[in-house]
Amino acid sequence: MFNYINNCHNTKDFRSLAKKRLPGPIFHYIDGAADDEVTYRRNTESYEQCDLVPNVLAGVENIDMSTTVMGQKIDMPFFLSPTALQRLFHHDGEMAVGRAAEKFGTMFGISSLGTVSIEEIAQQIKTPKLFQLYVHRDKGLNKSMIDRCKESNFDAMALTVDTIVGGNRERDLYTGFTSPPKLTLKSLFSFAMHPSWSLNYFARSKFELSQLKDYVQEGTNISVSVGEYFTKLIDQSMDWKAAEEINKYWGKQFALKGIMSVEDAKRAIDIGATAIIISNHGGRQLDGSRAPFDQLAEIVDAVGDKIDVICEGGIRRGTHVLKALSLGAKACSGGRSYLYALAAGGQKGVEKALTNLYTEIERDMKLMGVTNISQLNRKNIRFR
Ligand SMILES: Cc1cc2nc3c(=O)[nH]c(=O)nc-3n(C[C@H](O)[C@H](O)[C@H](O)COP(=O)(O)O)c2cc1C
Repeated sequence: MFNYINNCHNTKDFRSLAKKRLPGPIFHYIDGAADDEVTYRRNTESYEQCDLVPNVLAGVENIDMSTTVMGQKIDMPFFLSPTALQRLFHHDGEMAVGRAAEKFGTMFGISSLGTVSIEEIAQQIKTPKLFQLYVHRDKGLNKSMIDRCKESNFDAMALTVDTIVGGNRERDLYTGFTSPPKLTLKSLFSFAMHPSWSLNYFARSKFELSQLKDYVQEGTNISVSVGEYFTKLIDQSMDWKAAEEINKYWGKQFALKGIMSVEDAKRAIDIGATAIIISNHGGRQLDGSRAPFDQLAEIVDAVGDKIDVICEGGIRRGTHVLKALSLGAKACSGGRSYLYALAAGGQKGVEKALTNLYTEIERDMKLMGVTNISQLNRKNIRFR
């Protein structure tokens, strides 16, 4: 298996391997997006509408690609976005992803819909940790997640603001994807076709949504689609005042994840957030929403000197990271690029995906004639 992983030189290779290893409904849950998936495609395409302009003869033997984001010094300008249900993709789930992030000295995002507990992650993973909060209708649950993160000394929190209802992910409707997976004739067939995934899923410790299971049965003991989960359990009354109160109660580094407009970026500063993650949830929510990279320059111009701006979505190459940094992002993050690798080969897979990205960024910085990411700026980039 590890040979296959060593032959994965980019995200597309990992995607192909993930497709082979996972039952169809699970692969399409990772890979899919909302409606016609226009936004999902544009997220990556937006990086292809502009070009880097290199400088040469710059003496580039020693490269420093570290950055400080949300108060955390990370060794590369890319961190791992929080994503749900990781033990469905590989039995080691969050532990595999966290350990790989730790090896690369980067930040690890943990979803409210995570499958390993906050406490276990805190005990075992020493790299900077960002907890992603979904605000549920059950206020006790929200408080319990924040309290547990405080007690476990997590470094940062990101409140996701683009998932007030579930996105229309039609691939999940066709495949019947649920959490936990439902045993139907169709799903049994798909499990039978992927015996090694099925053996691991059924023989190892029981799948659960570790932060939620004491408050909600859906997702752990009652099978629901992700769309149904959000629409039924997320607090649709959440507003700026609620976000401000959460920030105050948390009291540490705080990001709003899913900011897309200059107006909202300014309001994030007003409520005391220390970062914004420009994101459309990887195209999984509002199809037709603009791509984060297309919105980046105007948001950086408006607030870049007052708050950390993180660009997220569609990043598949080192050059994508360099382009976002050239426009003024403090750091980038991503989901599918490491999730395909997790599905393809657990921790080893994620490590290889991060090796690929790290080597690309390093090589591309040398080819750009910069030794430190602070040297990247708007002169390095032209739109066609
Ligand atoms: C399978 C999957 C699960 C996700 N789960 C969550 C989640 O629980 N919370 C959240 O805020 N974002 C979640 N996201 C969105 C990611 O954090 C991130 O915004 C997105 O993956 C970025 O786009 P990219 O996959 O093109 O890098 C998820 C994304 C994927 C692909």
